[in-house]
Amino acid sequence: MTLALGVLVSGGGSNLQSILDAIADGTLDARVELVVSNRADAYALERARARNVRAEVLSHKDFPTREAYDEKLVETLRGAGVEWVALAGFMRVLTPTFLDAFPNRVLNIHPSLLPAFPGVDAQKQAFDYGVKVSGCTVHFVDSGVDSGPILLQKTVPVEEADDAESLRQRILGAEHRAFVEALSLVARGDVTLERAPNGRLHARITRPRL
Ligand code: GRF
Repeated sequence: MTLALGVLVSGGGSNLQSILDAIADGTLDARVELVVSNRADAYALERARARNVRAEVLSHKDFPTREAYDEKLVETLRGAGVEWVALAGFMRVLTPTFLDAFPNRVLNIHPSLLPAFPGVDAQKQAFDYGVKVSGCTVHFVDSGVDSGPILLQKTVPVEEADDAESLRQRILGAEHRAFVEALSLVARGDVTLERAPNGRLHARITRPRL
């Protein structure tokens, strides 16, 4: 199935770029119906427009509450025919107003091996802690912060010569591969959510079809 994707961004959009590249080269069976940024100066908007992908700014500052903002986001994405949502560096926490509109259809990329180092500046948190291995996580979004079912993770080593910035760059490279891989699995119908015996929802990757 061709995924009808909406991509939410706030910044540079290198993850968006890797998604657009993967669609262009046939690795990912998806169409980006709409890119929405909460910031007018996000370079991601230009990346979208350069590929003739519709891109809009919806500033959270124009709305009185998080819910009001999320309602408008839902209306905008639905109006564009979006069925799945990818958070690609979107620096806002979504409310149930949004999540209930796309139940179990919102994926986020986070630059650490969750559940370690959730929240902002995850790469620096990991570096400052002194970990020897870090990485990134693609997960389904629930109403917590970086807490939903994990779809896949990629590890990267922390080298002796690293600083927080070089680690951030290495993780970003892994993010680009991880997000495309995760979205491809979803597009192929190879991901299911199951309740584990401990009550937690787990994302399972089913065997790739022949
Ligand atoms: C990525 O590290 C992502 O994990 C984090 O914000 C960064 C966005 O990078 N949430 P980009 O805008 O995709 O280049």
